[in-house]
Amino acid sequence: MGESFPMTGGDGPCSYTKNSSQQRASAASAKSLLTSAILGNLDIERSSRMFAIADLGCSTGPNTFIAMENIIGALTQKCKIEDYSSLPRVSSSFHGRLFPKASLNIIYSAFSLQWLSKAPQELGDVNSPAWNKGRIYYTDAPREVGQAYSIQYAKDMDSFLAARAEELAPGGLMLILMPGRPDGTLPSQNSLGPFLRPLESCLTDMVDEVCKSRNLNN
Ligand SMILES: C[S@@+](CC[C@H](N)C(=O)[O-])C[C@H]1O[C@@H](n2cnc3c(N)ncnc32)[C@H](O)[C@@H]1O
Repeated sequence: MGESFPMTGGDGPCSYTKNSSQQRASAASAKSLLTSAILGNLDIERSSRMFAIADLGCSTGPNTFIAMENIIGALTQKCKIEDYSSLPRVSSSFHGRLFPKASLNIIYSAFSLQWLSKAPQELGDVNSPAWNKGRIYYTDAPREVGQAYSIQYAKDMDSFLAARAEELAPGGLMLILMPGRPDGTLPSQNSLGPFLRPLESCLTDMVDEVCKSRNLNN
């Protein structure tokens, strides 16, 4: 996925700014974890004069600024750094390399790594046991569907981690926030289910509309 698919900008009713309070609240509740990771695990002595922080999967709206404020607040607490600079804006997929080798001191990624680089191909193959019947998620789907997502996810995480392993400076720190499911719970208990079901139904309706209008026009 070389292209970027940004969230809706501006501050209208459909903008990410007006529709990301859940992410903001979850990031706020992880602030003390973030601060203690920076205080306890980041090795600032080993960083060069330039201190670089990247937010992978940042979006329009205030969430990135709040996250950066929290990170800089914790850094200031740790060693009173006031002079920091950042690398230029990067717009490409975080599943590949984005930054020079050993150039980042802090890598932060919130509510972004749950998005796969692509839907597993077999989900759309009617002859595959992993055929997902036009649905967009694995909740309540056959086991093979969940497995196909899981395999794709493992590949994507491998690529992400391999790229970040190159980019993280010695003594640096990576902070990841992402929705998950406690061990031992069922896919149907995923906390994102209530959001994805209406989304799936809207997307299916839109696809049906397009198909209908094409049939009418042809
Ligand atoms: C739900 S938003 C999260 C925004 C922000 N981090 C927050 O916490 O509010 C997910 C973001 O991840 C980005 N994203 C998803 N997959 C990506 C990829 N492979 N490479 C770069 N960005 C990606 C999307 O464009 C979007 O901006």
